[in-house]
Amino acid sequence: MTAAAAPGAPAMPLPIEARGLTKSFGRLTAVDSLDLAVHPGEVFGFLGPNGAGKTTTIRLLLGFINPSAGTCTLFGRSGWEPGARRRVGYLPAELAIDRRYTASDVIEFFGELRGGYDRQFTRDLLDRFALDPSRPLGDLSTGNRRKVGIVQAFMHRPDLLILDEPTSGLDPLLQQEFHRLVREEASRGATVFLSSHVLPEVEALASRVAILRKGRLVTVASIAELRRRARQRIDLFTATPPPRGLFETLPGVRQVTYHDGGVQLLVEGSVDPVVKAAAGLTVERIHTPGQDLEDLFLEYYQEAAP
Ligand SMILES: Nc1ncnc2c1ncn2[C@@H]1O[C@H](COP(=O)(O)OP(=O)(O)OP(=O)(O)O)[C@@H](O)[C@H]1O
Ligand SMILES: [Mg+2]
Repeated sequence: MTAAAAPGAPAMPLPIEARGLTKSFGRLTAVDSLDLAVHPGEVFGFLGPNGAGKTTTIRLLLGFINPSAGTCTLFGRSGWEPGARRRVGYLPAELAIDRRYTASDVIEFFGELRGGYDRQFTRDLLDRFALDPSRPLGDLSTGNRRKVGIVQAFMHRPDLLILDEPTSGLDPLLQQEFHRLVREEASRGATVFLSSHVLPEVEALASRVAILRKGRLVTVASIAELRRRARQRIDLFTATPPPRGLFETLPGVRQVTYHDGGVQLLVEGSVDPVVKAAAGLTVERIHTPGQDLEDLFLEYYQEAAP
């Protein structure tokens, strides 16, 4: 919950704010005029195909690299300021730490850097993820190294978590444990910025998403809004072949494909006209193949976005 600002008082700085954020590497513009506003307590999904500029955006936010143009802040401060860092937990796509160190070393090092951490919570995290903190990172499997990254990002109970593909390399059980952890931290009020390629994960965790392509924002919308925009697939299995032309001209119908058992329809918006038209047929089975939101995501990923 956010407290309402007193009249005349300056607005509370947002967990993440970017204006015209741009980063060029030589002739390549990796991040192009990005405007972002992430609000307190929200889980914000950050999506886009490989090379879209997600990791570069995150590195700009954290102050690891300087923008070519534009600005970005975490709680109103530049990401490199220690005061900002203390409130942030960052899970990098790759943990760039000398592999001779153990998870305990990593925890102590980051703990000191942030001026302390929650020791009991950290022990619980090690337990939850079944991580032995005494082994050198170099001896760990990819998934176990990822767990070290998770523990160091969450251990000081930060107000803002910036997670770059957090579940890559985790087995399905640990992915679920991680999702529970994100939900718990969000429900205590933490803001979560989640870059991910796992679309069902984003759908399950995020309330809003931004889709980036070639460094530019293609859309920022709530999951509910995306669901409304998503098309639905409806497979009707009928006793006799449906008459041609019955569905083609109905409002919202974007595609009609006849198959052995009946017809498959791709519908945008309300399916009511389709259901009413189908009422005149003998419908034996209706199948609505899932992942319609995933279809929409993939459309946004492609060149000619809707
Ligand atoms: N230090 C760098 N020097 C030159 N080019 C870079 C550098 N860092 C990133 N790039 C380029 O910027 C673009 C965006 O890369 P980035 O890593 O941000 O993509 P991403 O969205 O995180 O992709 P992925 O999903 O594969 O992780 C890519 O074309 C990449 O090659
Ligand atoms: Mg990346």
